[in-house]
Amino acid sequence: MNTLPEFRLETYLGKWEFGSRYHMTASDAQSITIRDVLALAGPGAVDRFLDEPLSYTQPYGAQDLREAIAATYDTAAPEDVLCFAGAEEGLYAFYRVLLDASAHAIVVTPNYQSAESLPLSICDVTGVPLEAEHNWTLDIDRVAAAIRPNTRVISVNFPHNPTGKILERDRFDALVDLCRRHGIWLFSDEVYRLIERDPAIRLPQAFDAYERGVSLNVMSKAYGLPGLRIGWIASHDRDLLERMVRYKHYLSICNSGASERLAVAALRGADVILDRTRAIARAGLAKTQAFLSEFPHLFESYVPDGGIVIYPRYKGADGVEAFARRLVEEAGVVVLPPSVYASALTATPTDRFRMGYGRNHIDEGLAAMRAHLLQNYA
Ligand SMILES: Cc1ncc(COP(=O)(O)O)c(C=O)c1O
Repeated sequence: MNTLPEFRLETYLGKWEFGSRYHMTASDAQSITIRDVLALAGPGAVDRFLDEPLSYTQPYGAQDLREAIAATYDTAAPEDVLCFAGAEEGLYAFYRVLLDASAHAIVVTPNYQSAESLPLSICDVTGVPLEAEHNWTLDIDRVAAAIRPNTRVISVNFPHNPTGKILERDRFDALVDLCRRHGIWLFSDEVYRLIERDPAIRLPQAFDAYERGVSLNVMSKAYGLPGLRIGWIASHDRDLLERMVRYKHYLSICNSGASERLAVAALRGADVILDRTRAIARAGLAKTQAFLSEFPHLFESYVPDGGIVIYPRYKGADGVEAFARRLVEEAGVVVLPPSVYASALTATPTDRFRMGYGRNHIDEGLAAMRAHLLQNYA
């Protein structure tokens, strides 16, 4: 097994996220408090929470949590769900269990790095790029051309980090058909699902669409509760789930029981939380677009389909890496430069940066950016 490379995005955020004034690249909505979550569970919920023992919990996840998660799918039973410490642990366990050196994987680029670094540490991987000139869509013919006799999984992520792209429904259906014809697993990272600019473009979950569809999701993004570290995988293949839970025995073993209680409350109160997230995303995107359009000589924008981040083009002569570095060092505003999305598999954009628009301090963050730009880039 090869050593995993540095996870550039997490290193960058680890360095800047907590020490800077404005985190203007967050991909999650502003979190609510433990008190707010418990308020969704009605009278007595705070006392019940405080009386919970801090014991180990079931490695698959508490039964009522798996029931609440299963209810988010059209066709899932609680037994189809395995919980993890965030989506990240699910990604790790999935690739480690499904792949071996004889396999081949296909992944989209650019990507949240574990989507390619994990399979690359195990087997051959082919990247298929999403490109701005093609409206960030996935070319299904290119995916088909990349398939080999030993291709075991195709890994996608819509709404996509960092572009916000949601694959068109006919292409998604074609992708499922392609996987089905070849008996290939479809691993679908759906962590930004339920944050769409229009519900009509929401994709089905891979679990519901395909018998070998594996859906990854988490409380972190649409629910805005990354601190819970509760993620999950839904799969029809109970043997795959069992192999992953045995892998999990070497990782977190089980979730935090306190987080499980809060996740159940949040999932049962999902309508309120999701309405709030979508309102934040709508307002934040409008402010961000207005801001970007103030500086047409510096930025070229577009409308993302979903999620809470955008990947606009930077046109300044200093280049986007220098722009992002100066912005954080001189103005205390963190955005992600494109080097954190560089891929070992394909070329990726080198002139874009990731902005997030889900945080409470968006007005102050944009004002700090504006002042920096007016002073240095007039
Ligand atoms: C596409 C994607 N997948 C997975 C993750 C990991 O999610 P979590 O931090 O909740 O484990 C992220 C986090 O940003 C992500 O963007």
